Amino acid sequence: MSNPSLLILAGDGIGPEVMDQVKRIITWFGDKRDMHFDVSEDLVGGAAYDKHGVPLTDETMAKAQEVDAVLLGAVGGPAYDNLDFSVKPERGLLRLRKEMDLFANLRPAQCFDALADFSSLKKDIVAGLDIMIVRELTSGVYFGEPRGIHIENNMRVGINTQRYTEAEIERGARAAFEMAMKRNKKLCSMEKANVMESGILWRDVVTEVHADYPEVELTHMYADNGAMQLVRAPKQFDVIYTDNLFGDILSDCAAMLTGSLGMLPSASLGSPMANGRPKAMYEPVHGSAPDISGQSKANPIACILSFAMALRYSFDQGEEATRLEKAIEKVLADGARTGDLMGPEGGVPLTTGQMGDVILAALDASL
Ligand code: IPM
Ligand code: MG
Repeated sequence: MSNPSLLILAGDGIGPEVMDQVKRIITWFGDKRDMHFDVSEDLVGGAAYDKHGVPLTDETMAKAQEVDAVLLGAVGGPAYDNLDFSVKPERGLLRLRKEMDLFANLRPAQCFDALADFSSLKKDIVAGLDIMIVRELTSGVYFGEPRGIHIENNMRVGINTQRYTEAEIERGARAAFEMAMKRNKKLCSMEKANVMESGILWRDVVTEVHADYPEVELTHMYADNGAMQLVRAPKQFDVIYTDNLFGDILSDCAAMLTGSLGMLPSASLGSPMANGRPKAMYEPVHGSAPDISGQSKANPIACILSFAMALRYSFDQGEEATRLEKAIEKVLADGARTGDLMGPEGGVPLTTGQMGDVILAALDASL
């Protein structure tokens, strides 16, 4: 049987730096756990624009459709801020999500004990936090038509459309309920049913799907209240299901609870392929961080944890994913810190590569 295939799209800014550490981890699993992957690499975002004039070529798109999983670093940067909207780096990422039909975006927010002091919230509010946001990723206002900027009565008008079909809401809801069944069987659905018809439909459909998951305790919350509750008492949540735009915002909010945006992985999953694996792309929640790119300061943990999610969700290697997560927990407990994790007491931060070194050493020690 051939090895499972991975397409690495490191992208822009700190993307390539953090991805270099993931490549070392992939090599480790080949050498020490006899888990081999066929790895190919390509360009996305500004890096693709620089070479090809588009943020994702058709060839790269086709490759992404064929592999077992895509690993993405980050896209964007100030050099591309003034590009035409249609070729901005972000369009490459959105095209991947849309054309691979990756409708279920899993964004876990977990607070590692060693980092509870780094949260902007009080330690007892975040210690032990473990929540999962399931964000609908292929529809809503990100893709709805009509959209654009046009002239009406001599005035420019900007339009975006929040549009959801019941089928789109339903398939994401099923992913969220399934996730809740594997966790603490609590699901909170967030929308704005008080002001948006799409929110009313959202609430109705999620309630209908609930009939198939009677063991799950379902609650509904307006998304603005959800944002407040996330910073007031985040541990009340287990799984949150929300739309594309609210999910974007709420997941950044949840990320900060854990101490640093440099810690959070994500998985974007679609329907099963012929081999039974879901279409999948894994990426850190953080962006390209142009302010620190090229300086070996970036924290590679979010990207490495994204690979752990790939092991779990694409390759059925839950135990190996846990091994990798435990190695990271261990190095953090031992005091390993990149710059983003330095407390007021200071100290000398590890470089991106040094963080990779200590994680690899912890993996060796786990054998
Ligand atoms: C995210 C990012 C993206 C989004 C951008 C880069 C297009 O913020 O993955 O959260 O808005 O979805
Ligand atoms: Mg975002």
